[in-house]
Amino acid sequence: AEDGYRLWLRYDPLPQTSALLSSRQQITTFFIQGQSPTLAVLSRELSTGLSGLLNKEITITPAAATADIVISKSNNERLGTEGFSIITSTTGRRQIRISANTDVGLLYGAFHFLRLLQTGHPTSNLNITSKPGIRHRILNHWDNLDRYVERGYAGISIFNWHTLPGYIDKRYIDYARANASVGINGTVLTNVNANAYILTPDYLLKVKALADAFRPYGLKVYLTARFSAPMEMGGLKTADPLDADVKAWWNNKAKEIYQLIPDFGGFLVKANSEGQPGPQDYQRTHADGANMLADAVAPYNGIIMWRAFVYSHETPEDRFKQAYNEFKPLDGQFRKNVMVQVKNGPIDFQPREPFSPLFGAMPQTPVLMEFQLTQEYLGQGTHLAYEAPLFKEVLDADTYAKGKGSTVAKVINGSLYDHPLTGIAGVANIGNDINWCSHPFAQANWYALGRLAWNTALSSETIAEEWIKQTWSNNSKVVAVCKQMMLDSRETLVNYMTPLGLHHIMGNGHHYGPLPWGKSLPRADWNPVYYHRADKAGIGFNRTATGSNALAQYTPEAALLWRDSTTCDEKFLLWFHHISWQRPMHSGRSLWEELCYKYNEGVRGVKTMQQQWSSLQQYIDTERFSQVQQLLTIQYNDAVWWRDACLSYFSDISGLAIPAGYERPA
Ligand code: GCU
Repeated sequence: AEDGYRLWLRYDPLPQTSALLSSRQQITTFFIQGQSPTLAVLSRELSTGLSGLLNKEITITPAAATADIVISKSNNERLGTEGFSIITSTTGRRQIRISANTDVGLLYGAFHFLRLLQTGHPTSNLNITSKPGIRHRILNHWDNLDRYVERGYAGISIFNWHTLPGYIDKRYIDYARANASVGINGTVLTNVNANAYILTPDYLLKVKALADAFRPYGLKVYLTARFSAPMEMGGLKTADPLDADVKAWWNNKAKEIYQLIPDFGGFLVKANSEGQPGPQDYQRTHADGANMLADAVAPYNGIIMWRAFVYSHETPEDRFKQAYNEFKPLDGQFRKNVMVQVKNGPIDFQPREPFSPLFGAMPQTPVLMEFQLTQEYLGQGTHLAYEAPLFKEVLDADTYAKGKGSTVAKVINGSLYDHPLTGIAGVANIGNDINWCSHPFAQANWYALGRLAWNTALSSETIAEEWIKQTWSNNSKVVAVCKQMMLDSRETLVNYMTPLGLHHIMGNGHHYGPLPWGKSLPRADWNPVYYHRADKAGIGFNRTATGSNALAQYTPEAALLWRDSTTCDEKFLLWFHHISWQRPMHSGRSLWEELCYKYNEGVRGVKTMQQQWSSLQQYIDTERFSQVQQLLTIQYNDAVWWRDACLSYFSDISGLAIPAGYERPA
């Protein structure tokens, strides 16, 4: 019954007919050189994986010479600390040789080899070398200590603080396996809206238990630090980062943590944002705050990930501009072990955003990408939305910070400004649902984050194909149909929610359904009408020089893509321009007609997904087939709701009629 629990590590027998039959015949034994907790994990994974996939008994042999797979250390500078090579050697006995400089590199190599088998890749002629392009590949759990997950749509937290440290749930191990299988090497266990209790001795023992369980899988733990912890936990009167007692408190806390967890990763901090405490409470800067914590963890090689997701309610400034305005002037002021963590877009995880202008704008500071796997504004755990195309759109965007080709990916992987400290984070979509992520297809977003963090050059299509073959089936029809569904799903969602550059018009608070008419709220910039600015004349947010001029935060070359409303990429049009309803679009339709067309395309797109999925019934287990089918029905009804709500409202505002004949749910 628990079909979704196994994620992409299913290891069901490979089809007899495939080209893999030869690997089946050839692989019977493997040899692992050396011993360690990581190698023990590797050995277990390989036995389970191979015996499942090849459907026969696989044994470990003590003799390398007679093994079919040889796993051994190498001394190959090119592989770094996490890379691996997989080579089919044909000199003498035919062997598959997996090598790496470290145990965890070997583990990654073994997982990659299993992936090759699972996806039907021939193994007779392998010659692969692979190493991660980004050093810190991290999940951010927004999990609270009471197990409620902020923006979590897949049950409560997988971390059961009540039974820790005594009880190690099997799920922790499977979680670590899944992460290791895609190269994720860090996890922030707690919510950015942090609770200082996590830093108390009792909780730190629980954190240690998790760290010990995850360590063999190469997965480091991190925590969120509540800036006011010295007051809340330490009884100090201030949390001023320049205060000697405050510094001493954090130094001691770091020492205490590292005594328990010698490889503790460091802290993620949300400060002076949405009501969280921070250095500005003491007229200090974000750099002062980050540096104080950075100094505390530096003796142990810890890092600080300081979030740039800040916007203030005191200032009437376009929210789009605020993070850049605050952080850009601080470039050069951060310690070497600080990374500034920036959400992909300037507002907040919308279905489509232009890249944040901070990418490329802080040459002296390592900037870490924050993506959201949990689908806060993307239909939550209910809608099918494959996010790799969203991630790629941002990573491939050109900042022009050092001329053409200065892509966001190059900012993130450190190559543009030569930073050794690099990172990418995904806000986790994992909970204690049987299938981890609520929607069976949501697992793909977790998978994609890991794969892209390893190699930003992989295409959405390649990643989808790998994932489908491992998760659903190697059957060519299943692969083709699922891939099409996945690749189209994000654009479909954009169409029925926020086409043509609309953004943040979701219901306030839950961010699920449409609320274009807005409502009275304590902050103007939480109100959808603030973002779409529809009036009798037109719609959209003027962010050009005649408006908020947010465009000026981009390099002139990057801004050029959007500056002129007649040449602006229509996908981003209403992000930057207030456009007359009558304005002709590239299609020849007026803006109003185009908006109607796009919303309806979104609805049609979901209908198409339903038909595509139905065509796969005979190939998919009943349980997961029915789960996806039911969720798609909800998604279809929601798409109609979005279209009708938005178009009715905008029709009222514009005085223009909605075209007749749109399809309705039966
Ligand atoms: C969004 C989200 C919050 C979250 C915040 C953040 O605003 O709705 O729940 O805390 O982002 O990223 O800090």
